[in-house]
Amino acid sequence: MSRRLLVTHALPYANGPLHLGHMLGYIQTDIWVRAQRMMGNEVIFVAADDAHGTPIMLAAEKAGKTAEDFIAEIRTSHEADFADFHFSYDNYYTTHSPENGELASLIYTRLRDGGYIARRMIQQLYDPQKEMFLPDRYIKGTCPNCGTPDQYGDNCENCGATYAPTDLINPYSVMSGATPVLRDSEHYFFELSKFETLLRDWFAGKFTGGSPVMNSGVAAKLSEWLDGGLKDWDISRDAPYFGFPIPDAPGKFFYVWLDAPVGYLASFKNLCNRTGLRFDDFLSPDSDTELHHFLGKDIINFHGLFWPAMLHGAGFRTPTALHVNGYLSVNGAKMSKSRGTFIKARTYLESGLNADFLRYYFASVLGDTPVDADLDLKAFEERVNSHLVGKWVNIASRTAGFVQKFFDGRLAADFGPEEAELWQTLLMHYGDIDALYRSGEFAEVTRRFVTMADLVNGHIAAKAPWVLAKDESRREELHHVCSFALAAFRMLAGLLKPILPATVAAAEQFLDAPIVTFDDARAELHNHTVNPFEPLLGRIDPKQVEAMVEASKESLGAEAPAEPVKKKPKDSSKSMSTNTVSEPVATTTIGIDDFAKLDLRIGKVVACEFVDGSDKLLRFELDAGSLGTRQIFSGIRAAYGEPEKLIGRNVVFIANLAVRKMRFGVSEGMILSAGDGGSDLFLLDADQGAQPGATVR
Ligand code: MSP
Ligand code: ZN
Repeated sequence: MSRRLLVTHALPYANGPLHLGHMLGYIQTDIWVRAQRMMGNEVIFVAADDAHGTPIMLAAEKAGKTAEDFIAEIRTSHEADFADFHFSYDNYYTTHSPENGELASLIYTRLRDGGYIARRMIQQLYDPQKEMFLPDRYIKGTCPNCGTPDQYGDNCENCGATYAPTDLINPYSVMSGATPVLRDSEHYFFELSKFETLLRDWFAGKFTGGSPVMNSGVAAKLSEWLDGGLKDWDISRDAPYFGFPIPDAPGKFFYVWLDAPVGYLASFKNLCNRTGLRFDDFLSPDSDTELHHFLGKDIINFHGLFWPAMLHGAGFRTPTALHVNGYLSVNGAKMSKSRGTFIKARTYLESGLNADFLRYYFASVLGDTPVDADLDLKAFEERVNSHLVGKWVNIASRTAGFVQKFFDGRLAADFGPEEAELWQTLLMHYGDIDALYRSGEFAEVTRRFVTMADLVNGHIAAKAPWVLAKDESRREELHHVCSFALAAFRMLAGLLKPILPATVAAAEQFLDAPIVTFDDARAELHNHTVNPFEPLLGRIDPKQVEAMVEASKESLGAEAPAEPVKKKPKDSSKSMSTNTVSEPVATTTIGIDDFAKLDLRIGKVVACEFVDGSDKLLRFELDAGSLGTRQIFSGIRAAYGEPEKLIGRNVVFIANLAVRKMRFGVSEGMILSAGDGGSDLFLLDADQGAQPGATVR
């Protein structure tokens, strides 16, 4: 039975160009959407630019433009990027739209009337010169923990400590340099805790017939926040602010994250207004349609807590599923402007690289869990050249010529016995491709593709049509193998179609046989006539990749984009940073820079003892050489029952970990040990000669 789905991806901020990190989750969404359509489902795919908030307001000001002009230009650039990467939206819109203003007000009003909005006075730092309240990111000062100057208002980049902006020593406004002052302001809060039962029911699949609404690791993270108690969410900001005014509150605006997800609905509403689609079919609580959101792991609190609560509280349906992607690294490290790996979508295209190639590479690293993905540029080049050109296009380029030359482009009326048998094998592999797509296992789809292509190429190599062609008595055999090859080429085109929309469109032209559904590509094409073959794809030239990296380095200084908008988890029930979604995220490769952030040292144990009131901890005193003496509490008591025996030993510890205040005292670092925990823990040793305080590298 055909399903009806409304699908969205996280909305990019309208404050800078799209980069390849954005494209990871966005391409994932488009592939999924296209696959759903090929299964015969009705899919409405909408997105928009996220156009509000302080960073965008200030970026526009800096560029000497009105906010409206600024976001319009960015939107044009985003839409061009999406078009050139072959996105199949039904609508692409902006959150700065009348539909969104109306829907945000409607939802807010319903929440207010439902008793879910509270008003409270808060104190916030204010820039008296710039005459505006300062978000945490716009206050800098000296770290209260380690004394490093010029640290942001929420955490220290040197020692990793987190604190409130009011804790900073000598704070100053990033915008004017003025010393901020504390001011009172009335804020509006969404009382999330009133939705605890709803959220638990939703996680448990109560509204989705039991089917999971998200990956189990993501659900575990959200449940942790639920268990920790949900805090009210501050949804208002003071003027000046680029956003929607709150209807009953002069001078107050909706916080950008209030109207951003509403932007999904507004983009859809805008589409409904232009077509016969009905908004309520997809949004009413009893609707039998589906609502799917794709998003990165850094914003699961907004989509997994606030958003379903807002929808429900305002009388709409809750989402059917959240599809969460991990973060993208390039060449094993965080995208970096100095290394030329902070690559814009536009730079990729301008280097002459085919958009479908990036789509293929991303598909090959995407699974059904939100693990981080790496764009290894060497692997990218090799995989694309080997899989797409060497394995797939090659099937057609080695056989199509014979079909034209000897058979006028017409394929045989049947396969030979060997081909018939191999065809069944291919069909078996192709059989559950739709299920793999549905569950997001794209890497498995590409592996399946390679297995099938290898089988086909193996058969072509064994039959050697170029040898058969020389022997007039073997025409039928030649016809069989080449016809089989082209039909198999098409089956693979069907498999690849959601991933390579432009390339497969060209293949369909050549085959003169459109592929609309996955089933279409099961046809044997007996007696079918194909068009003359023209090369479908060229190999990646390593120079193109080099040029892309070079160009990314150049684009550094000139138009350094506005400070990227950082999601401030402060609004969430518990603090969370980009990488707190630890469960679903597997180990990834790190660069040497990441390792260098750890200050690992040798410490000589000068004291070690049990801790009164704790059955887990031992208290260590380490001689850390030039760093002095360090006290560290370590949870290894179960493994070391005689602490005094450790005195005199050298251990390895992290010297630059933020100091932790514990019930028993201050812990100034962390001692490293190996094992699964409990009694299975073994301290790391250093050979004789390593001096206390020596750096471990
Ligand atoms: N505007 C908000 C989303 C609002 S949704 C109602 C936002 N914008 S963003 O531009 O910062 O990020 C947009 C999407 O790109 C998010 O899903 C985010 O996780 C994703 N990514 C941004 N950088 C990324 C990587 N380096 N890697 C993978 N995804 C990344 O958040
Ligand atoms: Zn610090």
